[in-house]
Amino acid sequence: MEITVAGGSITTQAADTYVVEIAEDGGRLTGDAAAADAALDGALARMLADALITGRAGEVTVLPGSRRLQAKRVVVVGAGKREAITVDGVRTRAGNLSRRLRDINAGSVALSLQEAAAALDATDAGRAIAEAFVLGLYRFDRHHTREQDRPRHRIDQVTLVESSARRATAARRGVEEGVILGEQTNFARDMANEPANLMTPTIVAARAQQMAAELGIECTIIERAEAERLKMGSYLSVANGSAQPPKFIVLTYRGAGNGRPIALVGKGITFDTGGISIKPAENMDAMKGDMSGAASVIAAIGALARLQARVNVMAIAPCTENMPSGTATKPGDVVYAMDGTSIEVLNTDAEGRLVLADGIAYARSKGATAIVDVATLTGAMGVALGGVRTGVFCNHDRTMADLERAAAAAGEKIWRLPLDAEYDDQIKSDVADIKNTGGRPAGSITAAKFLERFVGVTPWAHFDIAGVMSKPADSGVWVKGMSGNPVRTLVHFALGRAR
Ligand code: BES
Ligand code: MN
Ligand code: ZN
Repeated sequence: MEITVAGGSITTQAADTYVVEIAEDGGRLTGDAAAADAALDGALARMLADALITGRAGEVTVLPGSRRLQAKRVVVVGAGKREAITVDGVRTRAGNLSRRLRDINAGSVALSLQEAAAALDATDAGRAIAEAFVLGLYRFDRHHTREQDRPRHRIDQVTLVESSARRATAARRGVEEGVILGEQTNFARDMANEPANLMTPTIVAARAQQMAAELGIECTIIERAEAERLKMGSYLSVANGSAQPPKFIVLTYRGAGNGRPIALVGKGITFDTGGISIKPAENMDAMKGDMSGAASVIAAIGALARLQARVNVMAIAPCTENMPSGTATKPGDVVYAMDGTSIEVLNTDAEGRLVLADGIAYARSKGATAIVDVATLTGAMGVALGGVRTGVFCNHDRTMADLERAAAAAGEKIWRLPLDAEYDDQIKSDVADIKNTGGRPAGSITAAKFLERFVGVTPWAHFDIAGVMSKPADSGVWVKGMSGNPVRTLVHFALGRAR
């Protein structure tokens, strides 16, 4: 799909489908809506007068074309009350609209920015609509071999129409960014949706390497032997039970010379059986998504390279399977992380924190100025916040404020959770420095407290995305399956550092 921006009136566009916006209580029809109405001999005005169309937010009405219209049909979308138009609302409605247009086989689409670009910053409007189309139309259907199991229609061309030349230029910049943000998020979704037999650590590493080569990013894969030399005993203890070789992926993007980087660390468990502390059979297949953190940091650094952001970033993705076998780590085993911390592994299903410990320690050893880790870490997170908000833990208020701003720009919801010192008691071990579980109470918090032991004084935030890893149904920019959270937040955060 190609998304472009054109000036002038919508009725001059050669497209199969025109989309015009109508505000609620918008008064007389103006601009593109008026032009479409004129070509439809006033049908639109009559429907408004008859309250068949109201302009309510989310309303979608499909009208047939006329001989005086280049397009085969006109889709009228409600923008809601003008003063209530927000970037989030525009993004969500555009996501829903994208699928509706595909369902009606809209072909090439010309979409008027009339209300959105006037009510919002035109760059924000362009970005939101572009990312919504790219995200909303995403499908993971590559393993359906029969034609009839794939969506029947495609949208190949979307032209955003904006009459003001100044706003069109601004919208164009937004569209370029939105397409990159959407495509990179879909790249993360693709990796996370892929079943574990087809997304082993080796394959994740190959995808990262290929992306890095295409974008001119540096990519290093730390193999098992090198990880042993680096004393990454915590990470490697998770790989013990697997026949698949572990891959510790390091991507470096230098957009700002030789300064120290910010580090994005992603949990890369390509399948989490729980290990010897094995999970129940029901829904275990969802654990193919346990490398969503790794996918999101790889995708985010790719977006920053494509945007040529003036910032230095490192993406670190410790990847391995978590499997039970004769060589697997056993409950009670003591392992040593790269920074020398000893860990009693009481539950081999609390493996995410074990790989992140070495991921974070590695980031510190590289002089990271800030660390953001992303992990499908605890089922308790889904219990606390459901599938709506990502839980974020942070040891640094200014970094948290930056993340809040980034998440708001992305439309990915986050919520801060506490790191009180009292919780440390729960991860005290009788035999080692710490143990890897803190019991049932505050399970997400004690997991974060475990990670905190490895960050030292570095500003750090931990995103527990277990609850928002996947979506149960299509809605707005979200589609059923792996969500691609929080790629866009990470990108906005790093872009904020560039300014
Ligand atoms: N990958 C899981 C957490 C998870 C659960 C992610 C559901 C996405 C959806 C993680 O490795 C895990 O198993 N956590 C345990 C920790 C416990 C043993 C302390 C959990 O949440 O039960
Ligand atoms: Mn687990
Ligand atoms: Zn896991």
